[in-house]
Amino acid sequence: MKVLVLGSGGREHALTWRLSRDPEVTGVVAAPGNPGIARAHRCLPLDLNTPADVLGLAERERADLTVVGPEAPLERGVADLFRAAGRAIVGPSREGAALECSKAYAKAFMQRHDIPTARFVICDRVDDALRAVGGREFGFPVVVKADGLAGGKGVTVATDRAEAEAAVRAAMLDRQFGSAGASLVIEECLTGPEVSVFVLTDGREIVPLSTAQDHKRIWDGDRGPNTGGMGAFAPSPLMAPQMIADVIQRIARPVVDGMRADGRPYQGFLYISLMLTPHGPKVIEFNVRFGDPEAQVVLPLVEGRLAQTLLDSATGRLTAGQVSESTDRLAGVVLAARNYPAQPETGHEIHGLDQAEAVPGVLVFHAGTRETNGRLVTAGGRVLTVVGRAPTYEGAIAAAYDAASKIEFEGMQYRKDIGQKATNDLSIDRSIY
Ligand code: AMP
Ligand code: GLY
Repeated sequence: MKVLVLGSGGREHALTWRLSRDPEVTGVVAAPGNPGIARAHRCLPLDLNTPADVLGLAERERADLTVVGPEAPLERGVADLFRAAGRAIVGPSREGAALECSKAYAKAFMQRHDIPTARFVICDRVDDALRAVGGREFGFPVVVKADGLAGGKGVTVATDRAEAEAAVRAAMLDRQFGSAGASLVIEECLTGPEVSVFVLTDGREIVPLSTAQDHKRIWDGDRGPNTGGMGAFAPSPLMAPQMIADVIQRIARPVVDGMRADGRPYQGFLYISLMLTPHGPKVIEFNVRFGDPEAQVVLPLVEGRLAQTLLDSATGRLTAGQVSESTDRLAGVVLAARNYPAQPETGHEIHGLDQAEAVPGVLVFHAGTRETNGRLVTAGGRVLTVVGRAPTYEGAIAAAYDAASKIEFEGMQYRKDIGQKATNDLSIDRSIY
């Protein structure tokens, strides 16, 4: 089986690494890929946002399976084009991608299909939105969300009315997020630990992959601005097997059946972001792809025939039992550039990768790296994800930090508390789950 992986981040490096370990995979190519992927596989230039170019490349490469990393090509309809041409791809149609790309659509869908989520209203007009954040309906804090994709910046958890009104005005009047802020979702603020559940579906069957928890804020102790993710660990110790079964039953199942009933059959990864509230798990959001850096800690846990399972999901033949979950623990630490997430510095030489990779149980995945004149330099905000693997969280965390300490580049920053939640955040009331 020849596999084409679309994307250029740490997630895609993890996908190529994991898929190439399956015996039936005879070749892996990535587009556009990155220098870490290029050490083991061919990387080809490609504009991911032009579906016809993507299909053309898959045809030239005779890819038996194409796996889409980021959501943008899906929103542009790349999976629709592949399916019309009879070529296997993992990822939903453009209409299916609305589960991630339109928060208003996702919320209305959840309401229609009785999927537990925060109470909300959808507002298309400024005066409606200002009324909705007034305190009567949802109290404070209140959550203001831009409907469309806003690069992870479209959500404000406002502690008071002034902050909520400012968020409404910035999105709707100043168009801070462009057209993504034309509609807003205003919702109640939920409390509890956040966990992510990853499943794969062919539109009928559902195969759970694993769970993870991430660290979105830039600084230790979950302080500072939100980022794409500064680290993650897997699996989540909060998700006992019974709870995973419950999430499949009460959330994943109604999503898959609901999308089919709505005439939008959903195929691909589904990344369910949950808050474990005192009233049970509630959906924060859906993503229609794998997470980054979650993929870097979840994919190494997946044992068995992953490539075949992905192909089966793309062709509507998904069956359980071809993959299982390792009992290991993984922790992934993102090494970020100075001034990430605002305006990351780039162009600094990276040292110590070989020493880091020599640490037992460690994998280093590239994201924002570039090769110039034989030197590896930084080329983005999140530069590398350093992943440690061990039978315990403590061991995985220690391995990841040991390896991270061997890497150097000018302005490098990373959180020192990745995975600590796994060892001490067991404070939820299990009696209600
Ligand atoms: P999202 O982009 O929808 O994942 O939201 C970004 C972050 O905002 C989430 O990871 C949560 O920490 C927070 N958030 C979103 N919705 C809510 C909510 N209803 N209550 C509390 N926090 C929320
Ligand atoms: N780490 C969050 C995401 O991939 O959306």
